[in-house]
Amino acid sequence: MIEATAPGKLYLAGEYAVVEAGYPAVILAVNQYLFVQLQPAESGVIYSSQQPDLEVAWSRQGQQICTASPNPYQLIISSMQVVEDYLSALGVTIDTLYRLDIRSDLDDEQSGTKYGLGSSGAVTVAVIKAVLSYYQQELAPLLVYKLAVLAQLRIAMSGSFGDLAASSFGGVIAYHSVDRNWLKTALESSSILEMVEQDWKGLAIQTLDLPDGLDLLVGWTGSAASTDQLVASMQGQLNQEEKEATYRHFLQVNRTCLEKLIRACQANDRLAVREAIVTNRKQLQDFAAGMGMVIETPQLSRLCRLAEAEGAVAKSSGAGGGDCGICLVESPAQKERIAQAWAESGIVPLPLSIAYTDRE
Ligand code: PMV
Ligand code: MG
Repeated sequence: MIEATAPGKLYLAGEYAVVEAGYPAVILAVNQYLFVQLQPAESGVIYSSQQPDLEVAWSRQGQQICTASPNPYQLIISSMQVVEDYLSALGVTIDTLYRLDIRSDLDDEQSGTKYGLGSSGAVTVAVIKAVLSYYQQELAPLLVYKLAVLAQLRIAMSGSFGDLAASSFGGVIAYHSVDRNWLKTALESSSILEMVEQDWKGLAIQTLDLPDGLDLLVGWTGSAASTDQLVASMQGQLNQEEKEATYRHFLQVNRTCLEKLIRACQANDRLAVREAIVTNRKQLQDFAAGMGMVIETPQLSRLCRLAEAEGAVAKSSGAGGGDCGICLVESPAQKERIAQAWAESGIVPLPLSIAYTDRE
């Protein structure tokens, strides 16, 4: 039996701008995981503990994975298919049927609560790792990331794919997304092997460390509107001149701030990291106001205020509209005081830290 895992993720800074090629984000992998078990079997089955009453049977027609009935596992099937296409192109014979069992720490399974820790990115990455492992392939993070992007593109998923990079690489990364227009054109004229082997325009993934003495504290403020809807609502505004100007300005100041943040991590400069978080929060607030969107909800503002009252820095993380706020603390005592203050205000401190190494 094969087991594979992928960590969840949180944006530290650079969200929204990162959807455009050329604008970096800093993203963290967090130590809650998605788990996949793969077992060769008489017939193909997909089971996820999130839908305990459902087992989806699958088989192959030629090289194509198929299911008898519509089911909620399109992303999982697309991930399996991409790896099989890649392996077939390498000359590997694909004939085994298998059972996939999927379990996630990233959302609360009992209550169905979603924390916004990137479960769809993590399931993509973990399924790809499981199938690659079964065929004894090396799990190079860049290969896993590229296959994960291809799996999501095939089912028309949008966004920067920063979550896929964080779940594939672990730790802290500076992420520049691939140029989607380039990717679309490249896909029309390249085989899957060429796609995997060539450099991707715009893509850069660099591992970082947070400066010594900075620790992560994450608070959850309640479920958010979907990230896709928030990003689509932002993109829907861009035909209006004023909003276009807000957007261009945001992109520009954001990049300056993110470059400082990345340099500060490389220089182990705690103060400069704190400053960049404060600046990026303000930039996101101005951007949201100018676009007529809500990124930092009242509860996320409270989360930041309570953190700042104890001398820490904090901001909303990711698409916002709810979900997690992220705070950088400088001592266990400070962390404890903030977590306490959050809990008293209905903000749930999540027991997360940075996942520097893979679980396997
Ligand atoms: O809400 P999250 O943590 O999934 O982050 C979304 C980040 C965005 O930049 C808003 C969208 C994206 O795909 O990068
Ligand atoms: Mg979110």
